Amino acid sequence: MKRVYNFSAGPSCIFEAVLQKAADQMLNYEGSKMSVMEMSHRSKIYEDIINDCETRLRRLMNIPDNYKVLFLQGGASLQFSMIPINLMKNKKVDVINTGLWTKKAITEHQKLGEVNIIASSQEDNFSYIPKVSKEMISDDCDYVYICQNNTIYGTVYNYVPETNGKPLVADFSSCILSKPYNVSDYDLIFAGAQKNMGPAGLTVVIIKENLIEEKPEIPSMLSYKVHTDNNSMYNTPPTYAIYICGLVLQHLEETIGGLENMQKINEEKAKILYDYLDNSKLFKNPVNKEDRSIMNVTFITGNEKLDELFVSEATKNGFVNLKGHRSVGGMRASIYNGMPVEGVKKLVQFMKEFEEKQNV
Ligand SMILES: Cc1ncc(COP(=O)(O)O)c(C=O)c1O
Repeated sequence: MKRVYNFSAGPSCIFEAVLQKAADQMLNYEGSKMSVMEMSHRSKIYEDIINDCETRLRRLMNIPDNYKVLFLQGGASLQFSMIPINLMKNKKVDVINTGLWTKKAITEHQKLGEVNIIASSQEDNFSYIPKVSKEMISDDCDYVYICQNNTIYGTVYNYVPETNGKPLVADFSSCILSKPYNVSDYDLIFAGAQKNMGPAGLTVVIIKENLIEEKPEIPSMLSYKVHTDNNSMYNTPPTYAIYICGLVLQHLEETIGGLENMQKINEEKAKILYDYLDNSKLFKNPVNKEDRSIMNVTFITGNEKLDELFVSEATKNGFVNLKGHRSVGGMRASIYNGMPVEGVKKLVQFMKEFEEKQNV
């Protein structure tokens, strides 16, 4: 069977070797004669799986000891509420508005406090990342909130915003593990797993210990303190998704050789695609060059009918999920860690042939 090249923004492609290993272990995990799906989360064998997942994540991302790692549920979207519920004191937050995912976070924050949008790229269809300086940070905000990589528009922060001593909270859903990041530049990092970490259903939160406070008045399931006190086992965690995440991390460590190597591969893939787009007469990438994401690459022809034709021809040829997000249209190739270089080369070849046929 020939698999398709899946450019979905999430859930998205997973390393084939990981899927194969999960298939091999499906009925009998390491001699247990059961599937990981069937295991009690309180069993020793499962405890080893979740502990191994955390150890590998800490090693790969070089997470300092004064940060806790949580394996939660509710998607990245639940963090839009959990963060203010746990972290707001003055009930004020500074946000840099870089697109739909920051807007959704803003909506949830506004239910609990005051949101100050200190910068925005909305006037230019979120095609760039605004520059902020520490003078722009409010004196009384509880933290500064950003979306590190904007999945829909294909933009990424290539700098760490200065926050004048305020905690920096970042949505890493579509860039976690794409390259080495300095975790201590941030106070809270969160990510839905379904792009670079594994299947949907798992959300990872990496939080500096000093932000975790006892808050008896909030629901237990929304409390970072409750989840840290219980090592992500306050209730049944998403056991199978954590197991697959562990396999992805093992692959990154043992086959790829760490995040520096992953970055090289990701940059190579992105360069192949952007170089072609920059020279194409048909397709164009609408993003400010400095702010281009290496994970999500957007492109347009400027003609909706032609965009539709491209997506449908691509699908017929085994390049799937290239349609842009419904809020922006055009096309988007999400080239997460699991997408091989070969997939991007073949996509570009297909785009060239499509372009030639259009006689532009
Ligand atoms: C940057 C970003 N944040 C948040 C989300 C929402 O994630 P979830 O569907 O896990 O709530 C997404 C989903 O694609 C995303 O790309």
